[in-house]
Amino acid sequence: MADEPSRVNPDAEAEADQKPIKQRKNGLYAAVSDELAENMKSGWADTELRGLTPVAQASHTAARRAELSARFPGERLVVPAGNLRTRSNDTEYAFRASTEYAYLTGDQTQDGVLVLEPEGAAGHTATLYLLPRSDRENGEFWLDGQGELWAGRRHSLAESEQLLGLPAKDVRKLAGALTEATGQVRVVRGHDAGIEAALTDKVTAERDEELRGFLSEARAVKDDFEIGELQKAVDSTVRGFEDVVKVLDKAQATSERYIEGTFFLRARVEGNDIGYGSICAAGPHATTLHWGRNDGPVRAGDLLLLDAGVETLSLYTADVTRTLPIDGRYTDLQRKVYDAVYEAQEAGIAAVRPGAKFRDFHDAAQRVLAERLVEWGLLAGPVDEALELGLQRRWTLHGTGHMLGMDVHDCAVARREVYADGTLEAGMCLTVEPGLYFQADDLTVPEEYRGIGVRIEDDILVTADGNRNLSAGLPRSSAEVETWMAGLRDA
Ligand code: GLY
Ligand code: MN
Ligand code: MN
Repeated sequence: MADEPSRVNPDAEAEADQKPIKQRKNGLYAAVSDELAENMKSGWADTELRGLTPVAQASHTAARRAELSARFPGERLVVPAGNLRTRSNDTEYAFRASTEYAYLTGDQTQDGVLVLEPEGAAGHTATLYLLPRSDRENGEFWLDGQGELWAGRRHSLAESEQLLGLPAKDVRKLAGALTEATGQVRVVRGHDAGIEAALTDKVTAERDEELRGFLSEARAVKDDFEIGELQKAVDSTVRGFEDVVKVLDKAQATSERYIEGTFFLRARVEGNDIGYGSICAAGPHATTLHWGRNDGPVRAGDLLLLDAGVETLSLYTADVTRTLPIDGRYTDLQRKVYDAVYEAQEAGIAAVRPGAKFRDFHDAAQRVLAERLVEWGLLAGPVDEALELGLQRRWTLHGTGHMLGMDVHDCAVARREVYADGTLEAGMCLTVEPGLYFQADDLTVPEEYRGIGVRIEDDILVTADGNRNLSAGLPRSSAEVETWMAGLRDA
């Protein structure tokens, strides 16, 4: 990497006062001789790919765009993928295309923008705006840090058209064209500042939020492709959990980081990434809902709460939690708490079916947890009154589940009446994840409870006649978990 033109090159600096100077994107300078510049223009083979097979989503994205088009007739709709974000100098964070863009196009490339241009009274023409192959004539391909010589070959516009089933144009002309254009326009905000700047005078926050809300709601019911991808995400996640059980001795010799790294390896080898920061919470860390530092000790006798999910190459994620005895056997008290959460999860899963209210599975799980808390003398009864006042929430802490899809908390900007207050339909996928958490400093519970945290989380598909647990490949009951761990450790 020492000769990267975007870094200071000693040879180049020595020549800088005699030769033309080209400025790099990060503000450093390197000289390029006319001879070298000329040399780099030619001698490259034609690598254009022809006869490409469309990506698997291509047959689904047209229907998704048609729904969007029907909802906003006569308006220009702009959906950006997003841009690279700089971490420092010429180093970038890993790029992940916006969910809205990937959902509507099947594409994941940075700087891409989908534009639905109104055509007549109803209907739109969809065009994908992308960065074309790097120009060899002007040197962009090797002089620019994002040129293909440094960042890797991109698809040509013609290749992208074949892969995605959409006409593709050069995105570098889009901002100017949008500035000039007239008429109603909406943009999905938060991904591409350049595109938003070009539209500043033409959009309103309220109308743009309606667009984002519509796309959030459109993703609630999954098509067959999406259900297949969610199952793939879960299957990889199951393997990732197995990986973790096999290395618990190494984690005990190091820290929770060993667990995080082990799961991440599975996610990167089989998928695109983890779908969210893994929660690898040993001992009392299990009571911290978003424990993400993962730098604590892993000790025999404690529980490990592992909440992790693989994101597939097509960007669908699993979201699974198991709470495991690090040495392979729950203590009596750990088992008592675990079994209560398991019972609550069973009640929650049983309440997932088409026609049920979204809240039903939460209410079912909370009732079981409140009953156990009253039974154990931690919560004053009667149960109905405790539930009415929500007093069990000191230890249950969070909602019992959420929609799952391309985002771990999918459909997050759907309207309340269609999500939290809505009704379940076949094709929806959601988590059922009750928990009990006794903080290490909670003086209202006997000392032996303090520092115990248990969550069990599964990914449940609503089917025509009930539900299917996509993560049934991982054991859930305390006895099954112990048998499964013993089997993996002996293997
Ligand atoms: N992993 C985040 C959640 O369970 O919602
Ligand atoms: Mn979840
Ligand atoms: Mn989770």
